[in-house]
Amino acid sequence: MSASHRLLFVCLGNICRSPLAEGIFLHQARERGVLHRFEVDSCGLGSWHAGQLPDPRALAVALRNGVELPSIARQFEPSTDAIRFDLILAMDRANARGLIERGAARNQVSLMRSFDPTLKERPQHELDVPDPYYGSDRGFDDVFAMLTRACEGLLDSLCG
Ligand code: 4NP
Repeated sequence: MSASHRLLFVCLGNICRSPLAEGIFLHQARERGVLHRFEVDSCGLGSWHAGQLPDPRALAVALRNGVELPSIARQFEPSTDAIRFDLILAMDRANARGLIERGAARNQVSLMRSFDPTLKERPQHELDVPDPYYGSDRGFDDVFAMLTRACEGLLDSLCG
């Protein structure tokens, strides 16, 4: 049976935020017994880290929380990704703009944190997942918690 939802998680480098979003989503979908309904991948708008494993700090926070990160970094491919995936989840507004500039349809792109049920009425500028790359380990814990809530909301909205 083919997947009923095809989701692509996108950030800038594809080594911190989007691999965490992908791993957390897969973990939660498996726990809910709905993994078979999804095709899931992640990528970045930049190519600097293509072929690399996630940042060691992302791997560490995932490990502390019992989550695996299957991602190998790759760059967004407009000609194939915009067709293959029906929902593209941008980690921040700059990522969302970059996706649309590169050819993703506006109605295909959503901000990841717009699915966090605790942030429902918030304006868009409060919905960025902050880039933890140049920060401390603490930043990775904060991003993990944000993405955990957003993935729960995303699964609720897609699985009812
Ligand atoms: P990410 O973080 O977009 O969450 O993967 C970044 C990782 C690397 C860079 C920027 C952001 N970089 O400029 O190399």
